[in-house]
Amino acid sequence: MTKSFYITTPIYYVNGRPHIGHAYTTIAADAVARYQRARGREVFFLTGTDEHGQKVLEKAQSRGMTPLAHADDMVETAWKPVMERLGITHDIFMRTTERFHVECVKAVLQKLYDQDQLYKDSYEGWYSPSAERFWTEKDLVDGKCPDTGQAVYQVQESNWFFKMSQWQGALVRHIEENPGFIRPENRRNEVLGFLRKPLGDLCISRPKARMSWGIDLPFDDDFVTYVWFDALLNYASAVGYRPSGTEDWKRRWPADVQLVGKDILTTHAVYWMTMLLALDLPLPGTLFAHGWWVAADGQKMSKSLGNTVEVDLLIDGFGVDALRYFLLREIAFGGDGQFTYDGFLVRYNADLANDLGNLAHRGLSMTGNWLGGVVPAHERDTGLEAPVAALLAQVVPRYDAAFEALDLQGALVAVGELVRAGNKYIDDSKPWALNRDGDVAGLRTVLRTVLELAHAAAALLLPVMPWKAAELLAKLGRSVDDANETLRRWRADGAALDALAPGATLTVGDPLFPRHRELPPGIAAELDRLRALAVELEAAAPTPEPPKKQKPAKKKAPEPPAEIAYEDFAKLALRTGRVLSAERHPSADRLLVLQVDIGEERPRQIVAGIASRFAPDDLVGRTVVVVANLAPAMLRGVQSQGMILAAGAEQVIDLVTVAAEPGETVR
Ligand code: ME8
Ligand code: MG
Repeated sequence: MTKSFYITTPIYYVNGRPHIGHAYTTIAADAVARYQRARGREVFFLTGTDEHGQKVLEKAQSRGMTPLAHADDMVETAWKPVMERLGITHDIFMRTTERFHVECVKAVLQKLYDQDQLYKDSYEGWYSPSAERFWTEKDLVDGKCPDTGQAVYQVQESNWFFKMSQWQGALVRHIEENPGFIRPENRRNEVLGFLRKPLGDLCISRPKARMSWGIDLPFDDDFVTYVWFDALLNYASAVGYRPSGTEDWKRRWPADVQLVGKDILTTHAVYWMTMLLALDLPLPGTLFAHGWWVAADGQKMSKSLGNTVEVDLLIDGFGVDALRYFLLREIAFGGDGQFTYDGFLVRYNADLANDLGNLAHRGLSMTGNWLGGVVPAHERDTGLEAPVAALLAQVVPRYDAAFEALDLQGALVAVGELVRAGNKYIDDSKPWALNRDGDVAGLRTVLRTVLELAHAAAALLLPVMPWKAAELLAKLGRSVDDANETLRRWRADGAALDALAPGATLTVGDPLFPRHRELPPGIAAELDRLRALAVELEAAAPTPEPPKKQKPAKKKAPEPPAEIAYEDFAKLALRTGRVLSAERHPSADRLLVLQVDIGEERPRQIVAGIASRFAPDDLVGRTVVVVANLAPAMLRGVQSQGMILAAGAEQVIDLVTVAAEPGETVR
């Protein structure tokens, strides 16, 4: 029984559609899975969705659906289709609502309960709905969730706890003894730093009275399990973990690579790993936390903020291979990066349309024009072949080492060097001059060398650009299997300019990557929409400075307002709301971002153009009047879920405040 190479992505919340952040992790995992398969390993690749918990419940309620119907809909209409469009080759699409998963979670809970790893206690602390986790007072940053920067609530209730603290020492030892366990290095240090403080126990339940969309605790009917405890176990339930053991499990666990974003490092590095220790299961080989794609406005892209880039526009405009390439090539795996459409256009044109596209097209079309469109034999060295052959021989092992180290950017940089060397080789060897001078032997060698380099690049790019690489291979008369076979031979014997079969027919066809002089129409329209929104907002915002040293103008009598019917007024849902927190908008000086409790389960985030009149601290604790049924809008990249009433036309004079509890109707 050979052990599979088991690789996982996080399972994503179904409270929104996938955006490039989710695409990023999943494409990275897919590239690694394809790479490992190409090396002949048996791979098991997991991705999927996380379907329990408060966020999903709220989203379902806002759509008037049951949480399961909502999850089914999101999975079938958004998550699975996007994964398919991205070319993801997962072996399982895991859903936490699957019966086998629910059974596994219950069995694990029972086992830990029987082992005296769980206890009930009253809990007092802070809960962050945006991160779906509890925090202690000292974890908070400026009174907010340290992970998401959003509001937290004080909760006081009975709950079940896992004796996580017992496993702190064992976890620290494991991290110290296994330098490759948590990666990259800075994340490992971050976790070790976190573990220098005493580790608390983990609250693993929620009272059903507060939140019932979860998995029942088998030993206490009043509780469901905490969303993370449920979600993390998916990695085990998916490969057959049952406390009694299964064949699948023995073949697949432990996971070789678990990829996550740095936002969920602690939940994985500490919660998940201590759960595994308590269950006496081996820990995964590597937990790798990559960085964040941030939006053009510098903020983390997230569903909660609404500043996300959806993948469909990019695929429509540039093709899926280009998207996969861009995401993995643009930033070091582990670091952060800012996503801009212009940046995408620049890299597409430079690396794909220019470098790779030209190498392929020049090689194929010159061979078509001058050598009958068949692969030529090497005949007479021009003296320029040895350096490119030497480069190829060292690029392949470099690429392999990079892939094994999850340095996906490094692997692509190595291929890029080969491609650029190929173009330079064409410039230096001047096949057009050889053709003009009738040096057929020299011409054959040069074009064979160019075609070999294009072939090597295509073979190496298969895990990242599966379709375009296969298309290029087909133009060179090669199948994907042939190319992978060649790579395996090269790994054993060293790579050489010897893959192609002389005499094989080539196909020139269209360029692989058409040059884009400007952004494709769909993306240009999206940018126009975003700009229009920003302008609208600027116009709507009050002027920052009152005009100075002017005699106060005689106050004009206000225009009598146009009449509306009572039914129109009755459409407004006005509610009292207490301002829980206020902060400056990250990119618009006149705006404040407020978290306002209007008596709902979660506070509303409201963006208000009142920064010229109020400092953020002036507002906290005030009870204001909120238009609660205004359609949500994005204001300079930040979502606003309502409006607050203020006095003053051009300039805000004061807010409408009332002495009432939050959540009262205002009539
Ligand atoms: O956290 N940049 O789900 P989630 C890079 N259900 N990666 C990003 C990203 C960005 N801007 N935004 C999202 C959850 N991601 C839990 C996980 S696992 C047992 C449960 C990626 O929908 C990245 O992988 O919030 C991040 O960790 C994940 O999506 C969070 O997805
Ligand atoms: Mg998240």
